[in-house]
Amino acid sequence: MVVAGVSPQTYTFNLLICGLCDLGHLDARELFDKMPEKGCLPNEFSFGILVRGYCRFALANKGVELLDEMKNSRILPNRVVYNTLISSGKTDDAENLVERMREDGLFPDEVTFNARISVLCKAGQVLEASRIFRDMQIDEAVGLPRPNVTTYNLML
Ligand SMILES: *[C@@H]1O[C@H](CO)[C@@H](O)[C@H](O)[C@H]1NC(C)=O
Repeated sequence: MVVAGVSPQTYTFNLLICGLCDLGHLDARELFDKMPEKGCLPNEFSFGILVRGYCRFALANKGVELLDEMKNSRILPNRVVYNTLISSGKTDDAENLVERMREDGLFPDEVTFNARISVLCKAGQVLEASRIFRDMQIDEAVGLPRPNVTTYNLML
């Protein structure tokens, strides 16, 4: 592209970063860092792709660090980024992230709740998971998502 005189866009970089992450090449981060000098600012998707890459390779803590970097770049983390981190984290981290999500004005959805329940069940904290499950059944009025088939399957 560059030789042909066609300037890459943020979208072009996102595709490359995504491809590298899928192959487990988390040095995609270097490419990400070079974007501004090529005239492309990372957007929420660039961050989301890197976060997912880190989570897939058990580096969720690096993903959480990216949340702060997003805010420094004045890009608000979206629900997908939070849900990705919540579903791959440990139980305490998951609960802290749900709290942060609410502080950012994002409402946890059924993906968030199912991720919390899944993380708790895997950690053997089934009672805590069933408390959240009960909240989902009775607290629709306060805006909690309803349990769906995935929720029931997780609890079973
Ligand atoms: C239930 O929620 C999960 C997210 O945890 C979602 O992937 C799935 O599509 C939902 N199922 C239905 C039937 O809505």
